[in-house]
Amino acid sequence: MDNDERSDSLPTPPPDPGAVEAVLAGVYDPELGVSLVELGMVKHIEVAANGDVTVGISLTTAACPLRAQIGNDVSNKIRGLPGVGEVTVDYAEMNQSERSDLMQRARKHASQNAPSTAVRPTTRVISIASGKGGVGKSSVTVNLAAALAQQGLTVGVLDADIWGFSVPRLLGVAARLQAQKVEGKGMIVPEEISIGTGVVRVVSMGLLVDTEDSALMWRGLILAKAFEQFLTDVVWGDLDYLLIDMPPGTGDIQMALSRLLPQAELLVVTTPAKNAQKVAARVTDMARRSYLKVLGVVENMSVFVAPDGSEHEIFGSGGGRRLAALTGAQLVARIPIEPEVSSTGDEGTPVVVALPQAAASIAMSDLAARIVAELLPPVEMSGCTARMLDLINAAAATSVSNAPDV
Ligand SMILES: Nc1ncnc2c1ncn2[C@@H]1O[C@H](COP(=O)(O)OP(=O)(O)OP(=O)(O)O)[C@@H](O)[C@H]1O
Ligand SMILES: [Mg+2]
Repeated sequence: MDNDERSDSLPTPPPDPGAVEAVLAGVYDPELGVSLVELGMVKHIEVAANGDVTVGISLTTAACPLRAQIGNDVSNKIRGLPGVGEVTVDYAEMNQSERSDLMQRARKHASQNAPSTAVRPTTRVISIASGKGGVGKSSVTVNLAAALAQQGLTVGVLDADIWGFSVPRLLGVAARLQAQKVEGKGMIVPEEISIGTGVVRVVSMGLLVDTEDSALMWRGLILAKAFEQFLTDVVWGDLDYLLIDMPPGTGDIQMALSRLLPQAELLVVTTPAKNAQKVAARVTDMARRSYLKVLGVVENMSVFVAPDGSEHEIFGSGGGRRLAALTGAQLVARIPIEPEVSSTGDEGTPVVVALPQAAASIAMSDLAARIVAELLPPVEMSGCTARMLDLINAAAATSVSNAPDV
């Protein structure tokens, strides 16, 4: 271990309970689509001096089939906070009056918050970010989307790089986006491509304007709202994952993301170079301030394997590992430098599709598999509140005040 790493792993003070509650606002009951905090399901939060955290979660029924998923979501979110040690989730079963209270809150939410984004609460949201341009965010986004689709999943790709969009080129889509009326409101229909047995739905400024120059001309007028509109006015439909290709750096779009999609988690892309790691640390600092969890660190352009099999660390080494150590997040992938990542991208086919056996493709497909299996699995439905959801819908159809208690 070198000196750098030692200084990176200095103990971080434990978070305060308010920060724990703030990250839990990003954990949703998958059926009700409301956060556990808003539903009153978080009963207590204790943070010990050594950073161990204990939370009490009340479930509608003790035998809730979603218990494991909710428990994992809760502990994963909390573990993403710096300074956290062990996380313990205590479960309790709601009594009759607590269940009625939860119903009240869910009804209130349904009546007050007509869905603020068109992204369903059952969609896992991953924002691909970095502190610096050109590290491979867009390449990682499109390849991850393609690899998830190859597993049969439905994946949205939102190109949040409003002015420097590159997703349409990388995915080989050029068609203009269509509009459609949904309940009287004009909505944007994403461009859809089939990959394997799955589907990728794409929205980008590049599919609305003719050239990057014309997008630039609009700067400050309509475009400031474009990101928000891509979340609220797009018919995303039922997605397993929504991947958001962030613009370089931190700023307004990051803040809008945490306001509109508190369930989003950040995948931070960095190169192995030390300075790249420093810049990316800014993103994780932003994550901490906006309470978005860092799902993991991806080190891109890690190593170049020459035709003779020798390995060359062209962009330095250790940047991903150091950033992971610094933020307490995991280093979840190391993607080698391969000219084919670039050349296939230029031709509009992600390398995982064009050359699945390439080392970079294998690294990206492994990352996709790891996300699905372990890091952020797709949301399971059909659980404990489905019955309540039916009752809420039935109640909304008649009169709220006459709604049955459960
Ligand atoms: N693993 C890799 N091997 C080889 N080339 C790569 C790799 N990853 C990305 N590239 C190339 O590096 C360049 C930058 O990648 P990309 O556009 O994905 O980065 P970005 O972080 O999205 O950039 P920006 O900040 O401009 O949006 C592209 O030409 C891309 O093809
Ligand atoms: Mg990009």
